[in-house]
Amino acid sequence: MSAASAPRPYTLVAELTYQCPLRCLYCSNPLDYARHQASLATDDWLRVLRQAESLGVVQVNLSGGEPLLREDLEELVAEAERLQLYTNLITSGIPLRRQRLERLQALGLDNVQVSIQDVTAAGAERIAGRRSFERKLTVAGWVKELGLPLTLNVVLHRENLDHVGEVIALAERLGADRLELANTQYLGWAFRNRELLLPTREQLTRARAIAAEARTRLKGRMELLFVTPDYYSEKAKSCMEGWARRFLVVTPDGLALPCHLAHTLPGLTWQSVKDRPLAQIWHDSPAFNAYRGEAWMREPCRSCERRSIDFGGCRCQAYLLTGDAAATDPTCSLAPRHELIEAARQAAQHPGPAVLHYRQAPRRAAAAAAVADALSDSHRE
Ligand code: SF4
Ligand code: FES
Repeated sequence: MSAASAPRPYTLVAELTYQCPLRCLYCSNPLDYARHQASLATDDWLRVLRQAESLGVVQVNLSGGEPLLREDLEELVAEAERLQLYTNLITSGIPLRRQRLERLQALGLDNVQVSIQDVTAAGAERIAGRRSFERKLTVAGWVKELGLPLTLNVVLHRENLDHVGEVIALAERLGADRLELANTQYLGWAFRNRELLLPTREQLTRARAIAAEARTRLKGRMELLFVTPDYYSEKAKSCMEGWARRFLVVTPDGLALPCHLAHTLPGLTWQSVKDRPLAQIWHDSPAFNAYRGEAWMREPCRSCERRSIDFGGCRCQAYLLTGDAAATDPTCSLAPRHELIEAARQAAQHPGPAVLHYRQAPRRAAAAAAVADALSDSHRE
């Protein structure tokens, strides 16, 4: 695809750090994240924001890991505000203090997205790998008290899908403006923990019905989104709305990517925002053009009428499951390797005891976790 016809990115996912006090079993950070040590300097991120805005980006997801662990977050929010970018802070909430939230709001922060793992401390903390539940509720309360829009994000899986009704009730109690019930996508750490997390079709059907009823009931008060897992959708989904179409990810060490796991794909060379302007990477780099559009597709995608809707599904999932990044995503019922998904669904009917694979907390994140524990003890600021 030529630079002239390349689409324009709308959202910049700024992965400010891979450090995080939590160790969620479905974390989307790379399995080898602890090896990514070098992080971008403040000036690098400020330049990335300016270049992203020139490229057409209108929204910045300040994400991680845990973005609050960056001490320069305030500077980044201020610059995004100056550029009139919509800023969404995607946080565990753990290291947050109320005063800092007030400061971020004053600097122009537009939205806060807090993740909740389940409706009880025991259930949530088994998934998050550490004490965190009460703290998250406190932080969600601050967001609302300050008048900021609150998005609650709950990743669904076998262990909490049966609690969807309670999750919705909790979101109502907290006054969430938006509730994202996002079923786990089995990549990264979630793939490693798939045996534990993959639900049955029956669980999913029940939860979907509850969510649909609530969506109607809450219309106008709370936006409710229910994202089906790829493994039960029969049709592939357009991951990131298509490769290098709408999303631009920048990793903590500066790689520009079309999705957060693209650097796990073989044979592609990723460029750093330290070495090249973002526009050049977006338009011209061979890796961004590798799966952009439809020219790279093979059958059955090449002649399928859905190819411009789902773009052949997720490249990272195709590679993870088949060893071939150009394969049709096996979650599509027409995919030559769809039997891999059927086998996983079958196994979910009779799960054995599963080992829990938590990501290990590097030193700085462990320190942040200790601070958060102390804060949770008092619960007050
Ligand atoms: Fe999508 Fe390819 Fe499946 Fe067609 S064959 S529905 S384009 S993944
Ligand atoms: Fe990389 Fe789907 S996560 S294309």
